Amino acid sequence: MTRVAIVGRGRLGSAVRDALVDRDVEVVQLSRADGFDVTRPISFEAHGPLDLVVEATDVFTNDARKATAFFEASTRHIGAAAAAAGIGHLLVSIVGCTAPALASNGYYAGKAAQERAFLTGPSKTTLLRTTLWFEFARQNTERLRVGPVALVPSMRVKPVALDAVAEVVAQRCTGLRTFDELDVSGPGVTTLWEMTKALPSHGLAVPLLVPGAGGRALRDGTLLPSTTAEIVGPTFESWLAAAPR
Ligand SMILES: NC(=O)c1ccc[n+]([C@@H]2O[C@H](COP(=O)([O-])OP(=O)(O)OC[C@H]3O[C@@H](n4cnc5c(N)ncnc54)[C@H](OP(=O)(O)O)[C@@H]3O)[C@@H](O)[C@H]2O)c1
Repeated sequence: MTRVAIVGRGRLGSAVRDALVDRDVEVVQLSRADGFDVTRPISFEAHGPLDLVVEATDVFTNDARKATAFFEASTRHIGAAAAAAGIGHLLVSIVGCTAPALASNGYYAGKAAQERAFLTGPSKTTLLRTTLWFEFARQNTERLRVGPVALVPSMRVKPVALDAVAEVVAQRCTGLRTFDELDVSGPGVTTLWEMTKALPSHGLAVPLLVPGAGGRALRDGTLLPSTTAEIVGPTFESWLAAAPR
């Protein structure tokens, strides 16, 4: 039986767990809640034989130093533990995060540093880059809130359903498909503003023009995938129509 460790119990970790369990894969899910802290050296030794580890950790910050320190530590420690266990290491990253135009955005700078640490690390790596998830529209209205107002950064994106991303991860974990690096997106180009306005309830949403070169890059399509990216999952409209209210 295939056994996969998922580090992280959030949106991605849960979606990947569900997709793997549906395929009869045994999942070991780990996070700080289990005393498994990726900011320190870690080991998979206590968790029995594993075939692969999926890195699904995250930190909510726009501070470049904090984001870089967290993402580099997460990838280095998971990579070292994966190498010691002789297993593969799959990272889910963000299409476009390494673009120089986004270097002034602290979060993307952290993700870019993570990709560099991952690709130069000791483990056998698989890098899946995805565009913004559909779920982010709702997540943003809850996170970027000032009183009753939800700030919506102006972003041009080609978003994707998280379940479709989890499906690709599960296919890679079970050997149904093989790739070392892959970019995926959903089918349609839109803006975070259009996505937010389409939500059944979004409160008082206000567009936010993020200043500077990083803000311009969010608006000008820097986050859009290349034409070689694979298109997976439904349109945002059909996903929204099928989503529980
Ligand atoms: N949102 C998007 O559109 C998008 C698109 C592409 C890629 N991604 C990437 O997907 C990844 C996962 O995002 P998500 O939205 O699933 O995150 P999330 O829901 O915030 O979950 C993050 C998980 O990380 C764990 N974690 C945090 N600090 C940890 C630590 N020190 N040690 C061990 N575990 C730790 C947390 O569990 P504990 O608190 O229990 O530790 C939590 O379960 C991120 O790297 C993100 O950049 C996101």
